Amino acid sequence: MDHEYGPIVLEHFVNPRNVGEIPGASAVGQIKNDVCGDLTKLFLRIEGGRIVDARFKTFGCGASIASASLLTTLVRGKTVEEAAALSAAQIAAALGGLPETKAHSAVLAEDVLRAALADWRARGSGVPPAAACAG
Ligand code: FES
Repeated sequence: MDHEYGPIVLEHFVNPRNVGEIPGASAVGQIKNDVCGDLTKLFLRIEGGRIVDARFKTFGCGASIASASLLTTLVRGKTVEEAAALSAAQIAAALGGLPETKAHSAVLAEDVLRAALADWRARGSGVPPAAACAG
């Protein structure tokens, strides 16, 4: 079974980065794939429009753990706009590719990022403090 996964996927599965929660996170997203049941929760700390911390919890297969782990490494340090431009294809490519049957794990990572960014916007966090106080 291991031969289906490339070395980057296996490395992130065995040694996932940034596992956990962020107390008082700026944004939280949670997505469950209704077909396979894998679930990922993503926590972001955003300061000045930049993602300064990203952590995750995944209940799922090795590919979904690796995708979420890699996602956190990709978004850390990025502006919200840069992160919003990330795609599942870019996540899969950064993992060195995924077996066809597991390609949807990168989609799960993209979707949970979008959910977290939507949560951030819904909280009004995208409004600069000066504008938020005006009026
Ligand atoms: S089996 Fe669906 S993302 Fe893991």
